[in-house]
Order: sequence, then C-alpha cells, then structure tokens
Amino acid sequence: MKLVVASHNKGKVREIEALLAPLGFEIVGAENLEEPEETGATFEDNAILKARAACDATGLAALADDSGLSVEALDGAPGIYSARWAGETKDFRAAMARVERELHGRNSKAKFVCVLALAKPGEAVQTFRGEVHGRLAFPPRGDKGFGYDPIFVADGMSETFGEIDPALKHSISHRAKAFEKFVKSL
Ligand code: IMP
Repeated sequence: MKLVVASHNKGKVREIEALLAPLGFEIVGAENLEEPEETGATFEDNAILKARAACDATGLAALADDSGLSVEALDGAPGIYSARWAGETKDFRAAMARVERELHGRNSKAKFVCVLALAKPGEAVQTFRGEVHGRLAFPPRGDKGFGYDPIFVADGMSETFGEIDPALKHSISHRAKAFEKFVKSL
C-alpha cells in the first residue's frame, strides 16, 4: 500500500519509513505538498488536518503526526505550541527557559504526547495517541536528543531524555507508543 508521510521533516520521514517498510508500505514523500496551517486546538485536530490535506491532495492514504510537551502545572502548555515556543530560530534553550520561568518551582509533572492520524480516501480519519509520563528537571542536561529532551525525565528514570541512549528513548517514547497502536490497527 502506498502511504504519504505528511511531513517536511526529513528525519521524521526517514524514521517512519524505517518503521513501516518491513510492513509492506511504499512511502511517498510530501515535499511538494503545501503544509496546512496548524489551526487546531488539540494534537488530534492538528494531526487530522495534516493527514486529511495530504490525502485530499494526492488521493492516497496519508499519515501525519503532531506532538509536544505538556506540563501539568501550566495547564498543558506548551502543548500544541511546543515548536512555536522555540520561535523561527528553533531556539529550544529559550523555550526550556520559558518553561522553567513559567513553572517557577511548582509541580513539575509533565508528559510528551504524540498523535498519529491516518487518512484514507473516503473514510473517517483514525487517530492513535501515545504518551510518556515524567517530570521536568532544571537546568537542562544532555545533548543526545532534541527539542525539550534535556529537561524531561521519564517516570522511573533519573537521567533526562537528553542523556539516555537514544535507542532506549525510542523504545519507550510517546512516538513509539503511538506507532505501536497504529501498527496493531493494521
Ligand atoms: P511537531 O513536529 O509540529 O509535532 O512539533 C513537535 C514539537 O514538540 C517539537 O518541535 C519539539 O519541540 C517537541 N517534541 C515532540 N517530541 C519530542 C521529543 O521526543 N523530544 C523533545 N521534544 C519533542
């Protein structure tokens, strides 16, 4: 089955390709497709609108994801705005500093969330949500991950996602869990 991966992020597309090629999917890039504006209020909304747009534009099944960090004491922020908090220059040091400033010492419970959306022509979009729960730790530690990894410590661990082996992170992450659900649904 041909599947459009609705992302301009080459790293993400490669990662998804590696996961899905053994299952017999032929992955089609979406470099030439315009990315819709992320106007949704939830991870589900944004994943659905990206998958729907790519499906409508190509007539093929399309998979999209939306993800981010959700901090309990900040009512779920930065949430769907996780990438936007880092600004045009993708300055995650600044975004992490803002999280620390807004939290100012309160309960540091947090989770990473990933929602995958699968759109097929003429069918309702299906979504799959994965979460990994933990807490925030300041100052940021480790340079192995990306985004907010240096301030996130998963439950049961003492090192941040920026410090642990990436293979370990990939085996327990929000993205892995969403993918497990997606693959199980096939
Ligand atoms: P998206 O690519 O629009 O879904 O943006 C997701 C944003 O959430 C990224 O830019 C990161 O800031 C953050 N994020 C999502 N997953 C992770 C992760 O595994 N580690 C660190 N940050 C993440």
